[in-house]
Amino acid sequence: MSFKILGTGSSLPSRAVSNEELSEFLDTSDEWISQRVGIRERRVCTTERTADLAHDAALKALDMSGVEPHELDLILCATVSADNSAPSLACSVQSMLGATCPAMDINAACSGFIYMLDTAAGFFARGKAGKALVIGAERLSRMLDWTDRGTAVIFGDGAGAMVLGPGDSYLASKLFARGNDTVLGIPNSDGASPYYENEPRHPFIFMNGQETFKFAVKAMSTDLEEVVEAAGLGIDDIAWIVPHQANARIIDSAVKKLGLDPERCLKNIERVGNTSAASVPILADELWRSGKLRDGDYIAMCSFGAGLTSAACIIRWEA
Ligand code: UT7
Repeated sequence: MSFKILGTGSSLPSRAVSNEELSEFLDTSDEWISQRVGIRERRVCTTERTADLAHDAALKALDMSGVEPHELDLILCATVSADNSAPSLACSVQSMLGATCPAMDINAACSGFIYMLDTAAGFFARGKAGKALVIGAERLSRMLDWTDRGTAVIFGDGAGAMVLGPGDSYLASKLFARGNDTVLGIPNSDGASPYYENEPRHPFIFMNGQETFKFAVKAMSTDLEEVVEAAGLGIDDIAWIVPHQANARIIDSAVKKLGLDPERCLKNIERVGNTSAASVPILADELWRSGKLRDGDYIAMCSFGAGLTSAACIIRWEA
């Protein structure tokens, strides 16, 4: 027994920021960003906290599922940009919902949501959960160096959520990590200890774009191949691919490498940007609400990011 997906939801901040707007204070252009990354605009928090986005996405997923907060046995949040180091984002959401179940955060950077689905599958397999809420939520805008054109144009804020119940939809998964803290990361602030002798660090995202790009293309294609095989399927059996939205060119390269139909490999990066752990569940929510899903459709989800981590899974849609 693993789980089936009972409902999905997503939430974006109301403020849209276009490439043209970024060009007003960064040495960049709409042409460079749209051609090299595939983004035209992203959403950025003005008043919303990460917890507000997560809560809003959760309410929508609960509404679709018909599950009440008091019925939840588990809340998991994937995030690298929670409002607090403690309490966890999951505990903040639990309190906002009025739920009473255990709650915790998972950090596997952009791969966090799929790592978390796998964690939830373990709770279902052990009979420790009958209803679970899983959320990917990020407010990366507060972790950007807004003078760094290499990262400031890429990331956006948002949240996506799923409510899970018992079922057999989760067919196969792959989790991967290759520890590396120089290619892509977000340092914690070093604080103000009078005893600490190193140069203090700022909590801003840094990224070696090309190294990350190479890792991402390889991870996406290898992980998808392995997870499809592990589910006993062929790549042509997959109805929809929900990939992490890091760069449209990464998705296009993997599509080419695997010989996929580009129409089946979904994208919303143009409107949403890269929302890290929220990326996959936001796109999944768009698919769930599109009316395109048919009973029995196989869906592949995949992601990659800091760690370096990557993850993929196969889900069978059960209406
Ligand atoms: O979600 C986590 C995982 N993240 C990823 O998977 C991201 C992977 N990496 C990427 O998506 C791409 O590497 C980037 C979008 C970050 C960068 O694109 P790129 O094609 O690899 O560019 P580059 O770093 O090789 O830079 C090419 C040129 C450089 O100028 P010179 O040295 O050739 O004169 C950069 O300074 O583009 C310049 N550049 C920019 N120009 C205009 C870099 N950023 C910008 C910018 N606007 N925003």
